[in-house]
Amino acid sequence: MKLLTHDQIERNVGLMIVLTILVISVGGLLEIVPLFFQKSTTTPVAGLKPYDPVRLTGRDIYIREGCYNCHSQMIRPFRAETERYGHYSVAGEFVYDHPFQWGSKRTGPDLHRVGGRYSDEWQRTHLINPRDVVPESNMPAFAFLEHAPADAAGVAAKMRGLRKVGVPYTDAEIDGAAKMVEGKTELDVLIAYLQGMGLELKGAK
Ligand code: HEC
Repeated sequence: MKLLTHDQIERNVGLMIVLTILVISVGGLLEIVPLFFQKSTTTPVAGLKPYDPVRLTGRDIYIREGCYNCHSQMIRPFRAETERYGHYSVAGEFVYDHPFQWGSKRTGPDLHRVGGRYSDEWQRTHLINPRDVVPESNMPAFAFLEHAPADAAGVAAKMRGLRKVGVPYTDAEIDGAAKMVEGKTELDVLIAYLQGMGLELKGAK
C-alpha cells in the first residue's frame, strides 16, 4: 500500500477534515476517558454526602437564577486563591454534582468555601439586597425569593433521577424528601445550599 504524503492530504479538503476529526477524537478520548475511572475523580472526599432534599432544591434555584454567571465554585491551587478562599477544590468534592457548578466567570468571589463564612441572617439580608451589607456591591437583589414557595412536589423525582446517575439516595430518603422542603421559601433553601458549600475541606491544609 502506498502511504499518503503530506502534500496529498493537504490538497484534499475532504480527507483533511476526516483525518483532523480522527486525530482530535483520539486525543480527546485519551484525555477524557481515564477520568471516568480514576480514583481521585470518582471517590468522594471523606465526609461528603449527597445533597439533602433542601439543599438540592436550593441548588436548583442557584442554577435557575444564573448565580454561576458571576460566581465560580472552583478554587485553583494558587497561593492568592487559597489565602483568600481556603483549601483549593478537589475533584472528589464534586462527585454528587450533576452538573457541577464550577463556572469560569468571577464578577463576584468564588463561592466554593462560602459555607459557614457568614450567618444565615447575613446571607438573607445580602440576597434580599446586597447593598445593605456590602454598599459597593453590584450583585442583583433577589428579594422575590423570599415570597416564593420552594418546589416540594418536584424534589423526589429529582432525587430518583440523580440516583440513576449514581447518587446513593435511599428509598426512605426519597419518600421523606417532599416533607423536608414543604413550607420553606426559595430563599430558605438557597441559603441552606450556600451554607453547606465546601465544608468537607474547610480548614484543611
Ligand atoms: C451580576 C453578577 C452577580 C450575580 C448574578 C450574583 N452575584 Fe453574588 N456577588 C456578586 C458580587 C460582585 C459580589 C461581591 C460583593 C458582595 O458581597 O455583594 C457577590 C457576593 C456574593 C456572596 C458573598 C461571597 C463572599 O465570600 O463574600 C454570596 C454568598 C453571593 N454573592 C451569592 C450569590 C447567589 C446565591 C447568587 C444567585 C442567586 C448570586 N450571588 C448572583 C455578583 C453577582
